Amino acid sequence: MGEIYDFEHVPDRTGTASLKYDFAMRRAGRTDLLPMWVADMDFALPEEILDRIRERTSHGIFGYTDPDAAYFDTLESWFVRHYGWEIDRSWVTVTPGVVYAISCAVRAFTAPGDAVLIQEPVYYPFREMIELNGRRCVSSPLKNQDGYYRMDLADAEKKIAEENVRLFILCSPHNPVGRVWKPDELREIGSICTRHDVIVVSDEIHCDFVYGKNRFTSYGSLGEMFLRNAVICTSPSKTFNMAGLQTANILISNASLRERFRLVNEASGYSQANTLGLTAAKAAYDLGDAWLCALLDHLEANIREAAEYLRQKAPAVRMTIPEGTYLLWMDFSQIVNSEEELRHLIRDRAHLWLDDGSMFAEHTALFQRMNIACPQATLRQALTQLGAALGGD
Ligand SMILES: Cc1ncc(COP(=O)(O)O)c(C=O)c1O
Repeated sequence: MGEIYDFEHVPDRTGTASLKYDFAMRRAGRTDLLPMWVADMDFALPEEILDRIRERTSHGIFGYTDPDAAYFDTLESWFVRHYGWEIDRSWVTVTPGVVYAISCAVRAFTAPGDAVLIQEPVYYPFREMIELNGRRCVSSPLKNQDGYYRMDLADAEKKIAEENVRLFILCSPHNPVGRVWKPDELREIGSICTRHDVIVVSDEIHCDFVYGKNRFTSYGSLGEMFLRNAVICTSPSKTFNMAGLQTANILISNASLRERFRLVNEASGYSQANTLGLTAAKAAYDLGDAWLCALLDHLEANIREAAEYLRQKAPAVRMTIPEGTYLLWMDFSQIVNSEEELRHLIRDRAHLWLDDGSMFAEHTALFQRMNIACPQATLRQALTQLGAALGGD
C-alpha cells in the first residue's frame, strides 16, 4: 500500500493562501517557524479522487447544487463499510462545516443564558460557539491520569444537574488528548445525558484516524435511546484534507430535532451546498479507502517516531500517545514554569509553530499540541529543533 502513495514528497503550500503556512507567517510576522499547528495535513489527494474533481471543473459551470441520490448512496455505503452503522439519508443535512453546525445546534436547542457542557481541554471553537451565541459554557474537565485521559462522570452529572445543562458537545475522538472513546464510556455519559434530558452533539470529525487495536464507535450507533437525542457531526474534511471545500454531513434521526436544526440553518441563510465540495466528498468516500489505509500507516509511523524520539532525547516532555487523531498532546510542566517560558522555548528556541495548550483549557497552559500529518522528514526536522532547544543553545 505504502508504495502506491507518496507521503514524503508533498506540494509546497506556501503562497497558496493556506492558513497553516501563509497565515501563520503573516500573524507571527516571522518566517523562521516550522508550522505544525492547525489541524490540516500536508498531503494532496490521490489522482483517482483528483480526476473526479477535474472532470467536474472541466464542465465549467458551478451553479447552485444539491446533494443527489448518488451522493446519499455513497454516504450510506461509507458509514456501513467504515463504522458498521446503517444511516438513513433523510437524517442528513449538508452544512459548510462542523463548527458551523455546532453553532446552529447551540442556537436550535438552547436559549440565551442556557448552560452547555464541554470537557476541557477541548477544541477551542466549542467554547467560542457557546459564548459567542450568548450561552453559558460549563466545563467538566477530563481527568489526566499519567497522560491517559478519562471522563469525570460524577463531575459531569453534578454540573449537568446543578447548572441545568441543556446541551453537551462531545469530541469523539477527542481533540487534543487523542482518546478514542470506548462504547462503555459513551454509554455512561450518554445515559447521564438521557436521564437529564440533555441533547448530545457528537463531533466525530476525527473518526477515521484511529490506530492499533482502538476502534471508533459513533455515538449515533449505540442504539435508539442515544440516537434520538443526538446530533452527529461528520465530515470528510479532516480525513481527506479538504477543509477548504467546506462540506460536512450532519446526522439527526429525530425528526423534530432535525426540523429545529434545519430552521436555524435556513435562518443563517445557508441552503445549497458547495458544488466542488459535494463532488470531492463523494469521490473521496467512493474511492478513498486504499489511500486512507496507507495514510494511517504513515501517521502511525510518525506517532511512533515522535514518541520514541521524546522518550530518548527529551523524557521530561510527557507525550500522550494518541489512540486517534493526528495530534500530539505534550506536557512541558516538568520543563517550564509559565506559558511565557514555554512560548519562548517553542517559538524562539525550537522555531516551531504549535498550538498553545491554553487555547484548549486554562489549566493546560503548559501543554502544546503538535500536528504530525506531515512527511517523516518534516517531523524529524521539528523533533530535532525541539531536541536542540531543550538541550540548550
Ligand atoms: C474537533 C474538531 N471539530 C471541528 C473542526 C473543524 O471543522 P470544520 O472545518 O468542518 O468547521 C476541527 C478542526 O480542527 C476539529 O478538530
